This record gives sequence, C-alpha cells and structure tokens, in this order.
Amino acid sequence: MTESGRALERTATFGPDDWWRRGVVYQIYPRSFSDADGDGIGDLPGIIDRLDHLGPTGLGVDAIWLSPIYPSPGKDGGYDVSDHTRVDPRFGSEADFDRLVDEAHRRGIRVILDLVMNHTSDEHPWFVASRTGRTGRHAGDYLWADPAGQDADGRPRAPNNWVSWFGGPAWTYEPRRGQFYHHTFLAEQPEIDWRVPAVEAAQFEMVRGWLDRGVDGLRLDTFNVFLKHPDLPSNPTRAGRTPWDRQVHLYDRDQPDFPALIERFRAILDAEPGRMSVGELFDGTVETAAGLTSGSHLVFDWTLIEAAWNASAVRSAIEAREEAFGEGRWPTAVLSNHDRRRQASRLADSAGAADAEAVARAAATLLLTVRGTPFLYYGEELGMRDVDIAPEESVDPPAFRFTSGSHWWDRSRCRTPMPWSPGPGSGFTGGRPWLRLGPDAGERNVEVQLTDPRSILSTYRRLLALRATTPALQIGSLRLHPDSVGDLVAYTREVPGQRILVLLNLGRVNSRWQLSGIPGEPAWRLLFDTDTTAPRDAVIAGGATLILGPDEAIILEAIP
Ligand code: GLC
Repeated sequence: MTESGRALERTATFGPDDWWRRGVVYQIYPRSFSDADGDGIGDLPGIIDRLDHLGPTGLGVDAIWLSPIYPSPGKDGGYDVSDHTRVDPRFGSEADFDRLVDEAHRRGIRVILDLVMNHTSDEHPWFVASRTGRTGRHAGDYLWADPAGQDADGRPRAPNNWVSWFGGPAWTYEPRRGQFYHHTFLAEQPEIDWRVPAVEAAQFEMVRGWLDRGVDGLRLDTFNVFLKHPDLPSNPTRAGRTPWDRQVHLYDRDQPDFPALIERFRAILDAEPGRMSVGELFDGTVETAAGLTSGSHLVFDWTLIEAAWNASAVRSAIEAREEAFGEGRWPTAVLSNHDRRRQASRLADSAGAADAEAVARAAATLLLTVRGTPFLYYGEELGMRDVDIAPEESVDPPAFRFTSGSHWWDRSRCRTPMPWSPGPGSGFTGGRPWLRLGPDAGERNVEVQLTDPRSILSTYRRLLALRATTPALQIGSLRLHPDSVGDLVAYTREVPGQRILVLLNLGRVNSRWQLSGIPGEPAWRLLFDTDTTAPRDAVIAGGATLILGPDEAIILEAIP
C-alpha cells in the first residue's frame, strides 16, 4: 500500500470490507453480453467465458451487476419477473449460476443481482392466485382497491388519480375480484403490497436465498416506490409536460416509513461483512437519493446522467451532488444504463457537433474520477453508440406506449449485443442475434480495440488501472477548483498525502489552464491524458500553462 493509502486507513472509517466504495461496478445486460449456446441470446456460460475481459487481466472491475436473470415473459425486458428464486433456463441452469459466482470470485470479481421487488409479472404464481378471488394465501399480496364508484356509463372508476410511468392509468380492473390492482409500470407488472407482513417476509426469504448462494450485493429496482400511502389518496396535480409530470407524487412513492423498511432489509445483508446494496431512485431528486443513502446502502441519483455535455452543466451537477451527499454519504456515478441512451451518442448530441470518440474518452474520465462508486454499463468501454432499431425489431414493448415528451424512449437502442470480434455475429453469437448489432461492430469490438493503444478500450484500461492504485481517486474528497470557469471543469480529489487534479475541457475549442503560480506550489506529475497523440512532459512545473484540446481530459498528481 502507498503511504497515502496507509495514512487514509488511519484517519478515515473505511474498512477492508468497503470494497464497494473503492471499487468499480460493471453492469451486464445478460441477453446482450455473450451467447455460449448459439441461440442468439446472451447467457450465463457466455458471461463466464468473458470474465477475463472484466477481471484483473482485463478491465479490472470489482463487481458485475447482472440485470434480471429470472424467468420472465419479457414484457419489460426481464423487469417483469415470474419467479424471483430461479434462473431463467434461457440464461442457463442453476448450476451455471453457481459456477458464475465461483468463477467471478476466483478472479476477485463480486456479483450483484438486480432484484425487482416492487412488482412481479402478472404471470407470477402469487398474482395468478391473487387475481382470482379475495380469499386464499396470496389474495392480499398485491395492492388491490375497491372502485371509487362508477362512471356515467356504469364502468367501475379507478380508486384514485394515480398514473403509470409508462402511460395510462396506474390501475387495472379485475372483474373476478371486483377490484382494481395498482401498477406504476405496465398492467403486466402488478404492484406487491409491502405493508403485508407475510409479503415482506417472503421477499426477505428470497433475498436470503440469493445471499446464501454467494451473491455479494443487490440492486433494488425502483426501490423508493415500494411503499404507498396506506389510504391511497389521489396525488395533487400541477402543470407539466406529461400526465406523470402533472402530478405531485406525494402518495405513490417516498413514504415516511420507507427508510425503516430499508433498515430491515439491510439487517439481512449486514449479517455478513462486505455486502452492498444500491437502490434505483425512481424519478426523484439528488436530495432524495442522498437522504436514502446510508452505510453500505447506495442510491443512484440522476444528476450527472441528466447533465448536458457542457462545462457549466457538469459543474452544477457535481456541485449539487457534493452538497446533497456531503462528506458522510457515499454517492454513485452513472452516465448510462439499460434505460438511457449510450453516453457517447447522448453527450455528443447534447454538445452539438462534437467528436463522439473524444467525448467518450472524456466521459470515461469523468465517470472514473468523480467522487462516488462508478457504474459502468457494458459496451461503454468500446464507446458503443445508440443503434437505430426499426419499430418492428424493437424488443422494448413499453416503448410503444411512450408519447412525445416521455422521459424514456425505445430502450432497444442501448441494449444491442456486445461486439467481441470482427466477423458474423461479432463473437457475440454463432447464431442469429436476438437484437441487431451496431453497424460499426466490425471495427468497434474488443479484439480490434485491444490492439490499438489509442482506442476507447485502451483509454478505459489505463484509467481503471490508475484508479485502482490511486486512493485519492477512489475515496478522496472532491472539491471543484475555484478557477473552474468557461469550458473547463477542474476538481481536486484528496486524501491525506495525495492530491489529484482532474481537468476536463468540455468545449469545442482549446482551453488554457494555468497551474497556480504561487511560490512554493508543487510541481505536477502527469498521470493520464485522453489525447495520446502529442505526449506531454511527465513532470509539469507549478505555474505552467496547459492547453487542452476539445474534449481532452488530463489527470495530474501534486508532487509535494
Ligand atoms: C426500472 C428498470 C427499468 C424497468 C422499470 C420497471 O426502472 O431499470 O428497466 O422498466 O424499473 O421495472
């Protein structure tokens, strides 16, 4: 360990079990990662085959998060689960899962599962039983409510005004019970009633089952929606772009007794050290995300992912995060995921005519140096782009319900298969891929980029290696530099004994940065530069002026 690392261990409360704080998490969308059996759909043996790309001889990430691997009718890309306790045979066997955990652990990679506990598929046996009548073991497992009278045509009226995120009302009538059930998402995703003690007990039993199989962490899908107001009052309304935005979501999420539920959940994980969890904040502010963060429980906030690619937007996002999380709470860093656009496409578009390759490199620098645990979505290490998918090829049924102004779009475009090598199937599959590969897969693939020291993959590998040996980048405090103006975003990351300066030029023209010329100011060691075409000096004097090209990012360390 370096001197600064040792100093940190002495002064801070970070323990060896806090791997999730130092580490980097890599998100895999299993259908699109690697197909071992040639049916065109990615699977668990395929992931096992690719672990060396992720482990210490490859990217060197600390954990993989698997988007849902459970049986699912596929109405919402696997987030409509019909059995939370098993592996979908399309992805492999139960033994394949156990082998994946072993093989990942052998390489020092932890495994995080994605648990969808807010709702189930309508094909889940609990719901199938629940919808048929008001008696029986599962009758009360879902959020059922009586109609609020009848409309002029004699049809039952929904219990309140709640709407679905995917469009339309959030209630569907079930004539067999004479009641409505609630769904924040599709009607095929009925909402569980977490206020029923037997339901909570069953959910926690399932959690224990996965932990017993060696799982190291859990991502909780749309977790702040688990509890609703027990009386189901209508939400107040306001002006807004979409039906969803036209309500103040006072009663259908973020209930005051929710933190206590998370504490009960965490008690299960905390029975053993080193287990992390991360909640997906559904449609909320950075303050809500910070408020629900505690100990080893992280929460995604969307400030960075929603910032346009310009210096003032990124600076504001960083400031907002720092202010909301403060020193005591640990943030996450996310620039893309299975619901959002690919970062190179999204950011380059938001900046106007930017070079998407340069943007991808600078975005990698931001993701891996800002304070918080980075979550890296598969394929970003290649600079993958959104892929045009015709509506008839879409694999995202909710997309057809989105109206203009919706927050999400056809997510097929960011879920395309990972290209591993040139040639048919791009090393992803020997068969016909379940979703088309990007048109650039012949060149934008792992094999080709590995041979090119200037590729985006090489950039990620350099950055990840640097991060892994630089305590300040992992766990240091973050301070925006006061001279961070114009197109420049500049911040320092610091632990006792180590000070790192990150400079990002988010403009379309060169920017100048003068290293402070105060007498006695340190000289700087160049640790990283996204632009490798014109190497800079390894040591740069205090007071020197640096010129950064468009979307260039550099990392320096103060030499005391
Ligand atoms: C989460 C998932 C998203 C899914 C939704 C409903 O937001 O990330 O993919 O559609 O939950 O399950």
